Amino acid sequence: MSPRSAEPERTEDAEPLDWIDVGAAVDFHDPPLRQIAVGRTRVAVSCVDGTFGAISGVCNHAGGPLGEGRLDGAYVECPWHYWKFHHATGEGEPGFEADRVPRHATKVEGGHLWISRRPVTTRSKAPHAPHPLEREPGRAPGPLRVLGISTTNLDVRRPRYSTSEALLETALEHARTALGAEARMVRLAALSFRACEGFYSRSAKACTWPCSITQMDPGDQLTEVYEGLVHWADVLLVATPIRWGAASALYFRMIERMNCIQNQITLRNRVLIRDKVAAFVITGGQDNVQAVAGQMLGFFAELGFVFPPFPFVAHSRGWSAEDMENNTAFVRSNRALHDGVRQLVERAARMSEALRGAAVCSARIERGGRKAQRAALAGPAAADGAESE
Ligand code: FES
Repeated sequence: MSPRSAEPERTEDAEPLDWIDVGAAVDFHDPPLRQIAVGRTRVAVSCVDGTFGAISGVCNHAGGPLGEGRLDGAYVECPWHYWKFHHATGEGEPGFEADRVPRHATKVEGGHLWISRRPVTTRSKAPHAPHPLEREPGRAPGPLRVLGISTTNLDVRRPRYSTSEALLETALEHARTALGAEARMVRLAALSFRACEGFYSRSAKACTWPCSITQMDPGDQLTEVYEGLVHWADVLLVATPIRWGAASALYFRMIERMNCIQNQITLRNRVLIRDKVAAFVITGGQDNVQAVAGQMLGFFAELGFVFPPFPFVAHSRGWSAEDMENNTAFVRSNRALHDGVRQLVERAARMSEALRGAAVCSARIERGGRKAQRAALAGPAAADGAESE
């Protein structure tokens, strides 16, 4: 075979190659890609149209096991986030050739496939501009900042009254007018964003910050939420309707994508959320307020948020209330509920001020969240966050 490469090889004249017999060549036709160990070196061995290739089994991006990926034509596609490297040269795909993983020499002799023990080219990582979210979080000077996230799935092109969103709007307006805050609303229903694809299930290291999907897919619009949550807001208000006893489907779609925020604590003791306050607005025609609130409190606590006293305002008309046509009118005209969310944002603002003044969370936090043990990466049993698939 004659793999293409611009990289000068470490030639046989300079240093004779040390060849390793890795087995009968015919066995490497199927499967056509596999990860093997040559001593302590992981190698992705492939066979494309009868041509053998052997490249490093460690991806340039975040160390994914290339030999456990798949072949896309002549390219090995990493199983973690789908970067591609030529199966024989190790070069990145067209346009990214400078991003190269080492390749090993191969030969077939006596019906066996032989691989050079050491690679004959070097690894080269082309500089990638860091993603804008990657910067270290730090509060810029300015007034209190309140981010509202509405998780109702009502069609934004055909607006109608959402009880949860209406109460959130009341709270944000109060933050602006009475508290002098900057306040923003994000409507998840107006954003196009992919569901979490469970990279965590491959390896904790495969779930990156910024989110792997955010890095791969410039069209994914959850960036606005990450930016607001991690970099901008002091206070987060999340509003959800109750659907079959749980928060909305969009709420769960969003928080599954936030595993990457919590996972930075698991991987790097890196706490992205510090001195920030979260509070919630929960409305349902029927019931299960406490279970919904419990889930929300638990999740946002794991990210590093703290809560004001009485951290949610909720409304439910009870299990047997089926006259939903009256619910909208009830919420629209109920002063106590609207006053309640005004007071909620005031409590959250006071808590935020106290936190920032005391810098409660600015000190180093050792493995925040519910898993204080240090062995979390020791094995599958210690895995955190998303379920394995
Ligand atoms: S694409 Fe290989 S580790 Fe991310």
